[in-house]
Amino acid sequence: MKRKRALVTGCAGFIGSTLSERLLREGYEVYGIDAFVHNYDRWVKERNLQGALAHPQFRFFERDLRSLAFDELLARVDVVFHQAALPGVRTSWGSQFQEYVDHNILVTQALLEAAKNSHVQKIVCASSSSVYGGMSGPADETIMPQPLSPYGVTKLAAEQLCQLYAAVYGVPVVSLRYFTVFGPRQRPDMAFHKFIKNVLSGQPIEIYGDGEQSRDFTYIDDAVTANLLACAAPVKGVVFNIGGVSQLTVNDVISLIETRTGQRANIQRRPEQPGDPRHTFADITKARHLLGYDPQFDVEKGISLQIEQVRRLYNF
Ligand code: NAD
Ligand code: UGA
Repeated sequence: MKRKRALVTGCAGFIGSTLSERLLREGYEVYGIDAFVHNYDRWVKERNLQGALAHPQFRFFERDLRSLAFDELLARVDVVFHQAALPGVRTSWGSQFQEYVDHNILVTQALLEAAKNSHVQKIVCASSSSVYGGMSGPADETIMPQPLSPYGVTKLAAEQLCQLYAAVYGVPVVSLRYFTVFGPRQRPDMAFHKFIKNVLSGQPIEIYGDGEQSRDFTYIDDAVTANLLACAAPVKGVVFNIGGVSQLTVNDVISLIETRTGQRANIQRRPEQPGDPRHTFADITKARHLLGYDPQFDVEKGISLQIEQVRRLYNF
């Protein structure tokens, strides 16, 4: 039987690299694209890519999607997992916004334009809980999005473009609103990575605000599984919350890291950051029903695996 071909954009990133390896294990031939954009060190992304690069069914293209001819590429693949974006809620203010618009909105629009005239069977796009803004209890997909950060605005615009191209041109696209993903290969700018690295190396960690803000932390393998389920399900023009098993505060997370590493955190208090929601909490009923999504990893279980990976990454 002919192998299915998948395109993974952002394949050197946290989620894209883990997804690429999973697709290879599932028997796909994977075309991976990444431009090693500057949001964190290139060597970390190169390290993320090592596993996929060693696989005979992986083809890597170092290309910038902002200037790519998507038509030719889409003619060669069956399905697309669009993970590439400039992420990060707190860094999207000011003059950086132009880059967020280019990477997150314009690239998505170019992909969808090309998809209009292609035979691609499914496009799964990475969206974000940051489209919502704040939430006081579990949020389902019917709640009106009110992003609190410019990044959230770009992810919402990209998601709306997906809905539009599905409605008008029948493009078979779905969007997954991931909620703060953690686990091995998490981006170095994200909380768990920074906290674990600094606790292990005796450096101070910064807590924004009182630390009582909470997140619906989602383990990487659950987020990756959601992509495969969304690819296989007979749905298009649909948006799904992809949350985890546990809602924890930042203070809870630091206590857990202290317990698991046996080292005390040297905490420095910093002001609350513009763009940060106070709480996130995913209602995943829709993903459970339509995709069969059933997250397996709580923070207690997943954090040990991330601590081990951070130790290996920095040789601690
Ligand atoms: P990441 O930065 O680790 O990965 C994104 C990758 O995309 C990077 O390797 C980057 O070099 C690449 N990229 C960006 N623009 C590109 C371009 N123009 N051309 C080629 N490559 C490009 O980020 P991540 O945390 O893995 O996030 C993946 C996706 O998930 C993003 O769309 C992000 O907005 C979304 N998301 C992530 C989280 C999370 O908690 N990590 C939560 C919600 C949504
Ligand atoms: C994460 C991702 O970084 C975004 O790309 C993504 O879109 C978003 O999830 C989402 O769910 O949509 P965030 O929740 O801010 O954003 O994730 P972290 O960077 O891991 O921060 C988690 C919490 O820790 C936040 O409340 C933040 O204020 C806090 N934090 C972070 C600190 O107190 N100190 C730090 O040094 C870093």
